[in-house]
Amino acid sequence: MTPLATDLKKDATKAAERVGIMSDRIIIRGGKPLNGRVDVRGAKNLATKAMVAALLAETTSVLRDVPEISDVNIVTGMLNAYGVSVTETAPGELTLDPSEVERAHFSKIDALAGSSRIPILFCGPLLHRIGEALIPDLGGCRIGDRPINFHLDALRAFGAIVDKSYEGIRLTAPNGLTGAQIELPFPSVGATEQVLLTSVLAKGTTELRNAAIEPEIMELIAILQKMGAIITVEPNRVIVIEGVEKLEGYQHRCLFDRNEAASWAAAALATKGDIFVAGARQQELMTFLNVYRKVGGAFEITEEGIRFYHPGGDLKPVQIETDVHPGFMTDWQQPLVVALTQAHGTSIVHETVYENRFGFTEALNEMGANIVVHKDGIASVTRRVPRRALEQAAVITGPTPLHGADIEIPDLRGGFSHLIAALSAEGTSTVSNIGLISRGYEHFIDKLSALGADFDVEG
Ligand code: EPZ
Repeated sequence: MTPLATDLKKDATKAAERVGIMSDRIIIRGGKPLNGRVDVRGAKNLATKAMVAALLAETTSVLRDVPEISDVNIVTGMLNAYGVSVTETAPGELTLDPSEVERAHFSKIDALAGSSRIPILFCGPLLHRIGEALIPDLGGCRIGDRPINFHLDALRAFGAIVDKSYEGIRLTAPNGLTGAQIELPFPSVGATEQVLLTSVLAKGTTELRNAAIEPEIMELIAILQKMGAIITVEPNRVIVIEGVEKLEGYQHRCLFDRNEAASWAAAALATKGDIFVAGARQQELMTFLNVYRKVGGAFEITEEGIRFYHPGGDLKPVQIETDVHPGFMTDWQQPLVVALTQAHGTSIVHETVYENRFGFTEALNEMGANIVVHKDGIASVTRRVPRRALEQAAVITGPTPLHGADIEIPDLRGGFSHLIAALSAEGTSTVSNIGLISRGYEHFIDKLSALGADFDVEG
């Protein structure tokens, strides 16, 4: 096994253990439509940040509709290490008590953080609460170099001092944190959250330009407002935050996970199935729904959720450029690419957010797909963050019948697309490292069963 493969396996096993999945592999007998209902709860990319926000208050917060995924467990472990008690007070309801925040030992934080990127968002809140923050080497999905320069530059602008040591990065703020004028080089989701979580208690006013405005960020702003923050969202990606002295705990129900909803929608299309995604809402999925319709998928929106289905007939090719909100999200492309292998004609997916997010297509090609990944962009949008161009565009020519194969999951979204591919392929596939999927897909094995998938899980 290569060192990368060994690391992946470790990450997958840890993630699986955190949510009680004891198996590593799933054997799928594909070629059957997925039909039925799945319930989607709170968004991974909101719940974890809302949990960090609780650290800013001195009183208790209550967060509802929290999914049982391993990224939530990572944040719970880290909050516990800093003295925040996190209790499940009802199914999916977490009560977070930050009244006794304390320093944590670096080795503990390092061990708990695993491969998650969330630890960096603890910086601002910890600087406010205990005057110091330590960040280990950051992980996340293996989708290219994922630097933290925007985060550190923003923290420095607030007055933080950043020291790099062999352990990781240590931040202090001897003179406290003061509001700043910050312009992000790219509307980064994490860096926008960093600025929000740091500025709300900083002295004075912060003006953030070129901010990300994803629905999960608007929701985080709503939570901070409930806590007592004063945040104004202005036109053209400008957010103004007037620092306050103190914040209170919040009560909040998480926004649904639109990435999970889009993934099940893609699964319905690729397997020629019919899935009702309870909890999904139209508003946050509008861009995805347009593309889904153009490809030939059908949907029905109700108050309870959205039904996604393959209405029969040929799927059509599309050209997509991933983008920041309100564009087509980068996290939606991998599951959809599986359906595009069945479209009649040539589709192009141009990735403008990450530098290396097409690794998952190799396995699809082994299963019979015809996907060529190009280093040079071939659509109108150039890479948002100019760096080494690794993989910019995937050209998918279909339809190509897929057949079963042995596949190793590389990352969260790519991994889910492998599951979809195996479910839609004729024959048997063995998919390993399935623990990585539990980072962001709640109870996915139970959901697959409920949808009539034919599989066995193996340890
Ligand atoms: C968040 O990642 C999500 N993760 C990602 O979800 C999602 O793909 C991404 O936003 C885009 O929507 C979480 O919310 C935990 P970014 P984040 O900062 O915040 C570059 C999933 O599968 N950049 O918007 O890390 C970066 O390398 C995932 O759920 C810098 O160069 O994304 C990337 O090219 C994976 N320097 C681009 O910006 C920095 O300091 C966008 O990153 C920060 C980012």
